[in-house]
Amino acid sequence: MTNGAAAAVSHPNIAFIKYWGNRQDNLRLPANGSISMTLGGLLTRTSVRFDPQLLADQLTLNGQPASEEARLRVSAHLEYIRGLSRSSGHAVVESQSDFPSAAGLASSASAFASLTLAACAAAALELDPRDHSRIARRGSGSACRSVFGGFVEAHAGESDLDGYAQQLASPDHWDLVDWIVITSQAPKSVGSSEGHRLAATSPLQAPRVADAPRRLNLCRQAILQRDFAALASVVELDSNLMHAVMLTSQPSLLYWQPETVELMRSISHWREQGLSVCYTVDAGPNVHCLCLGEQAEQVGRQLESLIPEAQLIRSGAGGPARLVGA
Ligand code: PMV
Repeated sequence: MTNGAAAAVSHPNIAFIKYWGNRQDNLRLPANGSISMTLGGLLTRTSVRFDPQLLADQLTLNGQPASEEARLRVSAHLEYIRGLSRSSGHAVVESQSDFPSAAGLASSASAFASLTLAACAAAALELDPRDHSRIARRGSGSACRSVFGGFVEAHAGESDLDGYAQQLASPDHWDLVDWIVITSQAPKSVGSSEGHRLAATSPLQAPRVADAPRRLNLCRQAILQRDFAALASVVELDSNLMHAVMLTSQPSLLYWQPETVELMRSISHWREQGLSVCYTVDAGPNVHCLCLGEQAEQVGRQLESLIPEAQLIRSGAGGPARLVGA
């Protein structure tokens, strides 16, 4: 991988304890730590080729030239990596995901995790996963978690150097399934970068952040002990707290659609009836329905009959970001 080209794949992740708001926006240092499951099955592949002849970085997303905004964000990330490697050539970047982007599926997480691994390898930088995680965070806060497989915790960190993630448990630790219920493929009206900037305008953000260590602890213990009831209770609380902050930001952010609320209500009701299920919702209308693997078929059927027009994607815990043939 020293000929200036490399490619990497990585999975998106679903946050059980959400990151929302930055302590330092330019470094994407999060206001609070977070915990997620890396989503196997869904994949982003990113290739990077440095070319001294190029006058600017080029970016293709899913076969189409990217917007100038996306190109500049990737270019800033490459600039940091070029600085670390003391190389100066511009790059051709091609990124392809096999799932809908910008609809609350953390596509920027797998995009920046795979970009980081590919760009560092193409620049001949030999780094460990912790360094990759820290660098990926600078591109997208949630990307630091997609560097690792299984169940992952991102530290809030004191500075750029300790804002990274680490694995809590491997993918085979717990057979959890995430049914992603896609009711809308439309790009969200306010992206998470802008949402993070608005978080501090909510009077609820400070208490949400102050309580985060307690929720992180509950979630970590629930995962380590494979305690679904404990996980469900803290995951739904944490999702609701983040959306309470979004709703009370200025301007207010309301990501939910009628189907989102219908799903949240039904999933809580199914749990009261004895199914091991819970919901979590990212910055978009789509609902992630978590359940035990042994009940996944039944939960899938119930979701299908509740919202027949929705697209359902089934995912379990997946592996880490890794280099593949360029
Ligand atoms: O990494 P970003 O900037 O796309 O932010 C992620 C925000 C949430 O998905 C809503 C929460 C999280 O921790 O993944």
